[in-house]
Order: sequence, then structure tokens, then C-alpha cells
Amino acid sequence: MNIGLLGFGVVGRGVYEITEGRTDMQVTKVLCLEDIQLPDAEAVKDIKAIVEDPSIHTVVEAMGGLHPAFEFVRAALQAGKHVVTSNKALVCAFYDELLPLVREKGVSFRCTAAVGGGIGWLSELERSRRVQTITQVGGIMNGTCNYILDNMTTQGLSYEEALRQAQALGYAEANPSTDVDGIDTWHKVILSSNIAFGVSLDPKTVPVAGIRNITAQDVEAFKAHRLVCKLISTGKRTEDGYSAYVQPTLVKQGQPEAAVPMNYNLITFLGDTSERMSFFGQGAGRYPTAYNVVQDLVDVLSGKGFYAPYGGKAAADNGETMRYYVRGGWDGEESENWGSGVITEPVSVDAMHSWLKDHPDGFIAAVAC
Ligand code: HSE
Repeated sequence: MNIGLLGFGVVGRGVYEITEGRTDMQVTKVLCLEDIQLPDAEAVKDIKAIVEDPSIHTVVEAMGGLHPAFEFVRAALQAGKHVVTSNKALVCAFYDELLPLVREKGVSFRCTAAVGGGIGWLSELERSRRVQTITQVGGIMNGTCNYILDNMTTQGLSYEEALRQAQALGYAEANPSTDVDGIDTWHKVILSSNIAFGVSLDPKTVPVAGIRNITAQDVEAFKAHRLVCKLISTGKRTEDGYSAYVQPTLVKQGQPEAAVPMNYNLITFLGDTSERMSFFGQGAGRYPTAYNVVQDLVDVLSGKGFYAPYGGKAAADNGETMRYYVRGGWDGEESENWGSGVITEPVSVDAMHSWLKDHPDGFIAAVAC
């Protein structure tokens, strides 16, 4: 199988290295704006050199970003090529454009590395839904946030110190917003829900709260109550539809999520037959991510299409109520005062996230116990 690789950064280079020497697949062209010399592949600067090349069977998108990645992937699909990508923002933002095109062209479209990096999460959702109804997906899907929260909890660091460490280690970007504001997790839970439930969730109906405003005092208050703060995503089937949201969440010490260290992920689905199934591992990095891209390439060779049927549009309804730890001007009902913040009476997820929009310096964390 001849592969056209779009991008030669962290993931692209990893894919090139892992496929080198394989007999079943080879990267024959690499789209890269810089001048590179590769022993076994031709470096090209124009996407047409790949999408108009009939010898190229599959395109791997490893550029990142929305544009021109979307236009390039669409052109590849229109040309009848199979596509593998690790770009969760792309698949999430253009789900309703890409999936009908994949169906129309009858090609493979795989994105396992988009959620959980090297964890075989989306491919396991695909297997799981063949046998049972998946009722819930979610968990810790962002290694950067987990690294920051873990170091605040175990080392007593401030948010700023922990973020600086995450940046020094290459986990967080210079502008860390996509990770710390929960956007990366939001893409991942929407994509996971779409595949698990066979729908296309309207992203506007999925609220997200990040960890940017957490303080060392908040973490001390949680510790005093034997709680640990994690950024947790949730996608659920409800009686009459779906709910989905991303928010900092307080879990009891001793729960599996509370023990997730460093930059690891712990992602879980609940099924009506299997019950809880959890997946732990490296959610990012060159080789874990490239590993799952190559797994997808093997799945392309075996004729796998997408993970789930393309379902209709659905809105998440987040009327579910829970108690929250809140800091930053809460004037609703409260059940406890923790000094640094208060614990509310049960309030709906939608109402709490609306409150947060009006209080950009505030911090919320759901009380999961
Ligand atoms: N930045 C992400 C993380 C990896 O920290 O988990 C890519 O989705």
C-alpha cells in the first residue's frame, strides 16, 4: 500500500519511521513545506502531487489544524483515497462534511490516534458496539491537564509552576489554551460519543469548563476532604437522548481516576453487557500516536471503513443536577463553606456552565461522590 503523508512534524516523522522497512505499506510521498531529503520517499510541496497520483492508495493527515487540513482531506476522499488522521479538531469540526463523503465514496476513514494517543480506544468502541449498547464514555482524556493537576496535588505546586513544568517537558504549548481550557478534551468526548452512540452531537450543546483558574488553595481544600481534582469528560445516553460535558471533577482518593499520574489518560466506557471497561496509557507523544496511526493503516488494508454508522444530528441535554465546588462569586444556594470556595446545592450542568460564562475568573468542579 502506497501512502501519501501530509506533514512531517512530530506525528508524521513517527509514522514514517515506524512504516520504514514494512513490506505491506510504504510512504512514497511526503507533503512538507520545508526542504527535506528522505531515502525512500519523494518530498512534494503541492497536494495535487498526492491526490492526483493514482499509485497512492491512502493519505495520512499529520499536519494538524483545521485549514488547509480539511481541504486536503476532503480532496483525498473525493479522489477515492482512504484517509487516516490523528486530528481530533478536524474530525470533530467537519464530522458532517467528512462522514457522508466517506460513505458516498466507500473508503476507509480512521482516526484512532485522535483520542487517547496510543490507546486503542476508538477501535475498541468500534468492537464494543458490535455486541452491546454503549451507555457512557469519558474520563481523563488530556495528559497536559492531568500532569498539571497531579503535580499541584502531589507536589503542592501552584497552577503557574505546574504549567511551566508541563511546557518545559513539551506537553503544553506556549499558548496552552487548547489543553487547559478543555477544548482538546471537548473534541475527544464529542468524537467518542459520536462513535459510541452513532450520532453527530452538536458541539454547541456540549459545555466545557477547564482548569485555568484552579489555585493551590482549592487543591488544599480538596485534599482536606480526601478529594482529588481531575478534568473529566462525560458522554451519556439518557432516557430520551444524550448528555455530554467536560468539567473539573472531584473524585475520592482511592478511585481509579484519582490515582492517574503524570500525563497519562484513563478512559472508560460502560456497556449494558460488559459494564465498566477502562483504558490507561500514553495519550500523546510521537511514537504512541504514530503507533495508532499505523494500526489504522493496517485496518485500512483489512478493509475497515469508519467505526460506526454516520448518525443524525443530536443535541446534548444537560439538565442533570449535581453539587459543585464553586469559587468566584456564587450567590446561589450552598450546602457547605470550604473557606476557599463553597459547595452548592444540586444545580444542573447547563445552569452551572452558564454561570461560569458570566464569571470568567471563577472556578467550578463537580462533586462526583
Ligand atoms: N495535548 C494533548 C494532551 C494531546 O495533552 O493530552 C493531543 O491531544
